[in-house]
Amino acid sequence: MASSAALTLPIVLILSGPNLNLLGEREPEIYGTDTLADHIRRAQETASQLGLTTEAFGAQSAGELVTAVHGARSRCAAIIVNPGAVTHFAWSLHDALATFTGPVVEVHLSNPATRESWRHVSVVAPVADGTIAGFGANSYVLAIQAVATLLALEK
Ligand code: DQA
Repeated sequence: MASSAALTLPIVLILSGPNLNLLGEREPEIYGTDTLADHIRRAQETASQLGLTTEAFGAQSAGELVTAVHGARSRCAAIIVNPGAVTHFAWSLHDALATFTGPVVEVHLSNPATRESWRHVSVVAPVADGTIAGFGANSYVLAIQAVATLLALEK
């Protein structure tokens, strides 16, 4: 049976955008061979060491990500979001994240700044507390650590 402490752990919502469900087989020379489930499992392990818990939601469209952000308002303590290509154009996701009052950490496995020029703009970055990009298999664990630091600063 879950303890009452476990039931009240702050929830970190991990949002994944289009094509991240294909991690492991998708362009492994860029994104590595870990699956999204591998990244989320390691993030959850780190979260539980830091007194947090995670929820994961994957979507193939900006609209679904927007709906997930709405659902996180007043319920989740923080959001980690890898919007995939949605990062580079979806102002609706920008506006949704702007309504979320807890920490928001943008995460990318690759470093978009070193890739094609259309990836150099993030419309999410202005409403994120910070961005973790280019750390491959460590990216999600670093994002959890960043969230834990930001939540501790709020206390
Ligand atoms: C990505 C980078 C984006 O530019 C790309 O469209 C993705 C993955 C990353 O994690 O490196 O789908 O968000």
